[in-house]
Amino acid sequence: MSTEEEKKQPKSRRELVRTMGQSGNYWYAMEESKNLKKGNSLEVIFWKSPIALYRGDSGEVYAIENRCPHRQLRLSSGIVEGEEIICQYHGWNFDGCGKCTGISHELGKGKGKNELPNIKVNSYPVQEKYGLIWVFPGDPALSEEVKIPAIPQLDQENPWEFIPIDVKLEAHYSMMLENVCDFNHAFLHRKFKPFTNPHLLGTRREGDTIWIDYETDMSQSSAVKAAGEKKGAGLENMTLWYQYPYQGSNTADKYLHWLFMTPIDENHTRCFFVFLLGPLEIPFINKPVPKFLRKTVIALANKFYIIPLLAEDTYILAEEMLGQERHPDIQHLEFNPVVGEFQKMSIEKWEEYVHTEALRKKKQKEAKERYVFTGAGLTKKELRAYNKMLEEKEEAGL
Ligand code: FES
Ligand SMILES: [Fe+2]
Repeated sequence: MSTEEEKKQPKSRRELVRTMGQSGNYWYAMEESKNLKKGNSLEVIFWKSPIALYRGDSGEVYAIENRCPHRQLRLSSGIVEGEEIICQYHGWNFDGCGKCTGISHELGKGKGKNELPNIKVNSYPVQEKYGLIWVFPGDPALSEEVKIPAIPQLDQENPWEFIPIDVKLEAHYSMMLENVCDFNHAFLHRKFKPFTNPHLLGTRREGDTIWIDYETDMSQSSAVKAAGEKKGAGLENMTLWYQYPYQGSNTADKYLHWLFMTPIDENHTRCFFVFLLGPLEIPFINKPVPKFLRKTVIALANKFYIIPLLAEDTYILAEEMLGQERHPDIQHLEFNPVVGEFQKMSIEKWEEYVHTEALRKKKQKEAKERYVFTGAGLTKKELRAYNKMLEEKEEAGL
């Protein structure tokens, strides 16, 4: 290994996790449903893999690799017609499975779908739930058995109202995770005081979920005061979780949140927050907020409390990113045990994804399938390197 390569090798668990994406074998929130209207398309990215999302005339959403195989133009900048998308350059049509179904010029003129050359780009399972568009970027065969996390408050007969919040973060996803579950940063939020004097009670891992329990004083929170809570009584305990790859929290079954992160690259992450607020009271008169007003109250809570609070976090994480870029080799002085636990699970799950995708690709190759698609987020180079490592291990009898 050259000295240059050696220099680039991650030296600590923190450095390592910051180079990794998230396993594609889960459902990822990619966009709010309301932002994709019938006949429109847009681009989303899952760990460096661009995906074209488009909504056909029927209202159905499709997710295909965002490149026209002809000259690699973005399909998301094309034209949606019926249930297909047409590349704007030479007018090749693609269906929701990524198959080229029409070619406007001489090569394909007058030819039916099955007479055309077999041209295809990758396609991804997609569904809509909780106001969000979810894509399964990994092995499609797993997309049925792996579920979008259930949110009972939204699945019940009278679902709680909510308005998703879309945050574009200029930092690695693991930094957002470490931020949300580390209440030692109460100082940053000294204006809103969402938690004061936090005390970490404990953390435990069960399968692919890490639970964290905090005791904290919420009586000084401006939201708790505005919500008419009696000095935060009954809100002293908060449970948080990292249920891979999602994060959430619950306070007294009354205030909950979910954070759905989609990693874009080492420096960018798309975060969708769903905050769930239980029965709310009108401040000062302490009467429950009537149902017809709840959505307005939630919009106000988002605008004046949650969004500004999250803006403090996104600002500080971009700062942390800068610190990391300037001083990549200096070890952090990390005092919160949760951070290390999160990093371990994130690394484990990413390595598992690379491993299973490398095997899938190998099998496809052996079966001599015409198109070898691997999950999004992985480059051929990464998989080759992984396969090489496996072969070397095998040869060495390890
Ligand atoms: S580049 Fe898309 S049809 Fe030619
Ligand atoms: Fe925060």
